Amino acid sequence: MAAGEADLSPAEARLAMMELANMISVPMALTAVIRLGVPSKVWASGVNAPLSAADLLPAGHPDPSVLERLLRLLASRGVFSEHGVSPRRFALTAVGQTLVPGPSGASYADYVLQHHQDALVRAWPRLHEAVLDPAGPETFARVNDGVPAYAYYGQDTEANQVMLRAMTGVSEPFMEALLHGYGDGGFNGVSTLVDVGGSSGACLQMIMRRIRTIREGVNFDLPDVVAAAPPIAGVRHVGGDMFKSIPSGDAIFMKWVLTTWTDQECTAILSNCYKALPGGGKLIACEPVVPDKTDESTRTRALLENDIFVMTTYRTQGRERSEEEFRQLGLAAGFTAFRAIYLDLFYAVLEYTKSRC
Ligand SMILES: C[S@@+](CC[C@H](N)C(=O)[O-])C[C@H]1O[C@@H](n2cnc3c(N)ncnc32)[C@H](O)[C@@H]1O
Repeated sequence: MAAGEADLSPAEARLAMMELANMISVPMALTAVIRLGVPSKVWASGVNAPLSAADLLPAGHPDPSVLERLLRLLASRGVFSEHGVSPRRFALTAVGQTLVPGPSGASYADYVLQHHQDALVRAWPRLHEAVLDPAGPETFARVNDGVPAYAYYGQDTEANQVMLRAMTGVSEPFMEALLHGYGDGGFNGVSTLVDVGGSSGACLQMIMRRIRTIREGVNFDLPDVVAAAPPIAGVRHVGGDMFKSIPSGDAIFMKWVLTTWTDQECTAILSNCYKALPGGGKLIACEPVVPDKTDESTRTRALLENDIFVMTTYRTQGRERSEEEFRQLGLAAGFTAFRAIYLDLFYAVLEYTKSRC
């Protein structure tokens, strides 16, 4: 049966649409409980003992049932497990535990907060304008005085910090998987590694801790971003514009950058990577790769939802791509060899190699 063709009764169909119509309650309830510090309080250094809404609020709070309603919704969505009824107590499920701070103090909670800042949220009601005018200003820019998202982060210290933490929070667990499944062979012979769009430098730091043969890391990002990045031993932060030029290295790493841009812009970025590499050098890009066929799996949904996030926030014609589309972009930029490696459910590793002659 094709996606969306489930055999539903009319009542089930109305219920499914009611659920879709109110879906915004889920990310907003999630944002609210993160802002209230609930995941860290429940986790309490690994204890994860079920707590009631009253336990999670200051003593004497006038109405803990308001928080309890948020927690119930999120329990129905698999973020919390619910224990007992009166009072209901809540612990974090495996999904909820992604909100607990990792080694750097960041987690998926920072990603949730990044996505639900006012500046980003106010773009969503204008999404239909992206359809009517796909080459026009980004939806984000339409509602933020004409300023595109990355420029906005650069002008706003808090938004810049939130973005750095969000990227770190999402990167840490993926980088573990990457280093485990690809790291040992993938970075062979690399002494200088450039991370294009490296944000805080967290990915580079993790790679260099594990792959000791890499002597120098170059964290390349927009000047405002690297200015806010923390110092990291062995890493040089370089500010610039990847559309103009990219620093040279034996290999280039690039995570979650191409998705944001149009085909033409991706070709420009990939061409600059090509120029910055020696013959035989590799570009290791980690990007979400959409399946050719649409289905109702969590993976496909997460990828397609992120695609619309990119459309709304960054570039209408920036988008998630299939493996074949990524291969073609690399060929257009001059790379002769390409392979895709799937070691995570969200990001794929896309390895582009420049020929030796
Ligand atoms: C989605 S973030 C990914 C960050 C990081 N690679 C990661 O995955 O954690 C995209 C990054 O591209 C950077 N970026 C955007 N435009 C750029 C440009 N013109 N030149 C260099 N970096 C840019 C952003 O500042 C941001 O850090």
